[in-house]
Amino acid sequence: MTSSLQQIMASTGNGLDYDKEQELKTFDDTKAGVKGLVDSGIQSVPKFFVASSEETCNEKSDLRHTHFNVPIIDLRDIDKVGARCEIVKEIGIASSTWGFFQVVNHDIPQDIADEVIESIQRFNEQPNHVKEKFYSRDKMKKVRFNSNFDLYKARFANWRDTLSCLMAPNPPPPEEYPEACREILLKFSKYVTKLGQDLFKLLSEALGLNSNHLTNMGCADGHVFYCHYYPACPEPNLTLGHTKHRDPDFLTILLQNQIGGLQVLHDNHWVNIPPVEGALVVNVGELLQVISNDKFKAAEHQVLANCAGPRLSVACFFTTHFEPSEKLFSPIEELLSDDSPPLYRGTTVKAYIDFFASAGLPAYSSLTRLRL
Ligand code: OGA
Ligand code: NI
Repeated sequence: MTSSLQQIMASTGNGLDYDKEQELKTFDDTKAGVKGLVDSGIQSVPKFFVASSEETCNEKSDLRHTHFNVPIIDLRDIDKVGARCEIVKEIGIASSTWGFFQVVNHDIPQDIADEVIESIQRFNEQPNHVKEKFYSRDKMKKVRFNSNFDLYKARFANWRDTLSCLMAPNPPPPEEYPEACREILLKFSKYVTKLGQDLFKLLSEALGLNSNHLTNMGCADGHVFYCHYYPACPEPNLTLGHTKHRDPDFLTILLQNQIGGLQVLHDNHWVNIPPVEGALVVNVGELLQVISNDKFKAAEHQVLANCAGPRLSVACFFTTHFEPSEKLFSPIEELLSDDSPPLYRGTTVKAYIDFFASAGLPAYSSLTRLRL
């Protein structure tokens, strides 16, 4: 074991000479992420991962509320008029109350979804000398691997490593994606594009707008994959896989494996979003909350750490923040009236994500900053 890792492992005690900045840098310099720590045989969670008890809490989760469940919406008959009407209604209710729902019969074949998960596992489990070539904190990089995008700013680090890949528009040449997942991510991207367009149509209709309204605004013009690897954690109660946050995009489509741990804050309770065979999780992002003028809600969510693992997930963010566009997104005119005045000032997608990324999690809500 390298001496730097020994140093990090020593920090799990209550050493008086704890230098957080230094420990973070030592960890970052390994370029091996949380998985590297686990592989080195760590038996306890280093101090910089430890959250306060309110942050890991679950004070707000309450087993009596397990009757709460994120809606599961069946998209099978999306092209039949009567059924579509029902689906639009369900999506509207889910997006305005939960900000989250799951979809089944979404036309993304199960073997594609399974292969995506396997390929991300393969990427993370290859020798470090292959993976470390992608390790970077450069926000402009279209393909980037690191542990904790906000490592140096967050109140505590998360038990998670992430590969992010810009898929559209203006993707990098295919050779820039890791070989372990290149082909399948490109294939998955095509399916997700189609599902995203379908969902934006349904969401437009749920807002009482023309089907193409949200896509015409550009909501489906771009997407980025955040491929997360959450290793098994020796002390899951001390940290989190992903600190609570809202997504700073228009919409997120999330594929998860069978480990579980994703939770949404609903009516002040943390509610589990259990893995459902064949389902994808969909959630409203903050930019959709802005343009829908609060008709749809971006809900806070988090991922618990787990003694089982690895948990794998691929979050597809519909966003165009890699584009330098000056286009402003503000509440949709058609949704405004004397009774429903605009609640937000306009923002560019890039300015929005830059603000989000400038602070560490848990973040002061970027939504509040735009509120009129
Ligand atoms: C995210 C996110 C949840 C998950 O990437 O924003 O919330 O299950 N991911 O990995
Ligand atoms: Ni999220």
